[in-house]
Amino acid sequence: MDEAGVVRVLRQVRGPDGRDLVAAKLVDSVSVADGTVHVALRTERAHLAAMEQAGRQVEEALRGAAGVRHVTVVLTSHKQAAPAPAPAPAPAHAGHGPAGHEKFLTDVKSVVAVASGKGGVGKSTVAVNLAVALAQSGRRVGLIDADIYGPSLPRMLGVNQKPGLRDQIMIPVPAFGLVCMSMGFLVPETQAMVWRGPMVMGALSQMLGQTDWGALDVMVVDMPPGTGDAQLTLSQRVDLAGAVIVSTPQDIALLDARRGVTMFEKVGVRILGVVENMSYFQCPHCGGRTDIFGHGGAQAEAAKMGVPFLGAVPLLADVRAAGDAGLPVVIGAPASAAAAAFRAIAEGVVRALGG
Ligand SMILES: Nc1ncnc2c1ncn2[C@@H]1O[C@H](COP(=O)(O)OP(=O)(O)O)[C@@H](O)[C@H]1O
Ligand SMILES: [Mg+2]
Repeated sequence: MDEAGVVRVLRQVRGPDGRDLVAAKLVDSVSVADGTVHVALRTERAHLAAMEQAGRQVEEALRGAAGVRHVTVVLTSHKQAAPAPAPAPAPAHAGHGPAGHEKFLTDVKSVVAVASGKGGVGKSTVAVNLAVALAQSGRRVGLIDADIYGPSLPRMLGVNQKPGLRDQIMIPVPAFGLVCMSMGFLVPETQAMVWRGPMVMGALSQMLGQTDWGALDVMVVDMPPGTGDAQLTLSQRVDLAGAVIVSTPQDIALLDARRGVTMFEKVGVRILGVVENMSYFQCPHCGGRTDIFGHGGAQAEAAKMGVPFLGAVPLLADVRAAGDAGLPVVIGAPASAAAAAFRAIAEGVVRALGG
């Protein structure tokens, strides 16, 4: 099967307006390598159900085709001002789970999930800098961006490269001493994913299971916000060493953090600790410190929940700029207070993991 062959299949499947997917210009990208086919289809939220149906038809047709071993069909939508709503919590099949499936990442000593109750608290920033700091301390570290809906690793690591393929297995992309995977490496960066349930699990499973991670000391997983399918897949298919919960000092975010903690505790995952991000403002000119949001809430909350407090990261223009420039602050500004905080958090995580 080559790309032209995939396009022929796409011409057989009808989109929401009755035209085939190619004629209706609903195909964003097609790639074929080594028997692995990736197709990205474009959809609007209003047509999501119909496009999911079309996506399944494409998947089925391609699965049956000669020379095709793996198929991923993703639905993309152009980024809107408002973030896509989180997927429905725990679907009906949550209880029994994918029985009999093998575990992923069995060659990794410790898999650490970085999570938060809501988006925008700096979870990806923490995940990236934690991973890089762990790699700087000489560990072999991987980083998975499990946020299918809004991948951020390509931007934060400045990576714009498709993973290589060897014998139908993806080769994770190297960056700053890490090896990384993100859906953002597979589909155009300017689009947000609007996959649902089974598709999210399929995509995440590919990143976990059909990627040559090698033997790693630590795998950091940047979780999507909330308590959806990715959390479920991960807790069922991976032996998590624990979770790091990221929170901002505002009370409302703390309530969300508590939700994040509860979610992991429910599935028997240990909380390695809580990070307070955007904890205080550090003036870039005078170095003075301002506790804008009333710093210390996360620490108090961690104590109340009986989980370790891993550290406070200042709100620093450099952190944002570094993230947007694709140069994590622990690399770009190693002497900054933020970098020091991330290194201390990494040490705390190592301690919580037992050395
Ligand atoms: N400590 C910080 N200081 C300044 N900006 C930050 C800090 N932490 C995160 N940001 C910025 O806030 C935005 C959201 O962070 P991100 O890590 O993407 O959050 P999440 O993954 O929780 O959605 C990004 O633009 C990021 O650069
Ligand atoms: Mg994120």
